[in-house]
Amino acid sequence: MTETSSTLTTLAVDIGGSGVKVLLLDAAGQAIGDRTRIDTPQPATPTAIMAAILELAAGQGNFDRVSVGFPGVVRQGITKTAVNLDPSWIGFPLTDTLKHKLGKPVRTVNDADMQGLGAIAGQGVELVITLGTGFGSGLFLEGRLVPNLELGHHPFRKGQTYEEQLGRAAFDVIGKDKWNKRLQLAIATLDPLFNYDMLYLGGGNTKKIAFELPPQTQIVPNISGLLGGIALWQD
Ligand code: BGC
Repeated sequence: MTETSSTLTTLAVDIGGSGVKVLLLDAAGQAIGDRTRIDTPQPATPTAIMAAILELAAGQGNFDRVSVGFPGVVRQGITKTAVNLDPSWIGFPLTDTLKHKLGKPVRTVNDADMQGLGAIAGQGVELVITLGTGFGSGLFLEGRLVPNLELGHHPFRKGQTYEEQLGRAAFDVIGKDKWNKRLQLAIATLDPLFNYDMLYLGGGNTKKIAFELPPQTQIVPNISGLLGGIALWQD
């Protein structure tokens, strides 16, 4: 049978600071089977993470193409920053390397951008923040991505960035109460800056949120980070 885009399956890969995850998607972007995960190897070098992806991919059976969410700036398939991985990622040809190793077409975007693609409604200005090891951000206008918004490394308060104040390392030091207060302040700071129609909060640490969310704010399930993989092929 000739394969058309209506039969193609996509392996979605989410490279994170604490875990590397994969999920197989059908042509409509629905999950096929279960998400699988490996702890991010330390040091988190390209070689070690490539090996983890290959192992996870082998466990998922057949797929036609691959979508990758990477925790840093990605331009034309090359990883430009990688604050929470090994510095040897800077300038690494991720898309081409994976294409060669898996023998399938590969597309790569920033992890928060991929999460947003799996969560947004495609209406107006939509901002996505991810709360995990790092502080990720994605901005969309009428469903179109403004790539590589890096709010996490922008100054927030007391001479520190959003990521320094709200990333996993900060959470572990300051604890849940203070972290929640800071997050409330961050949302109150970002709302009048972006004037978004909707703010989506994703990432593992959303389960630590202990305040009532303001209007136009919603938590998205972690799986959106992988479900967004289908959107990379909608052209
Ligand atoms: C990176 C972002 C990434 C975020 C979440 C930050 O340190 O600079 O590109 O989206 O972490 O992984």
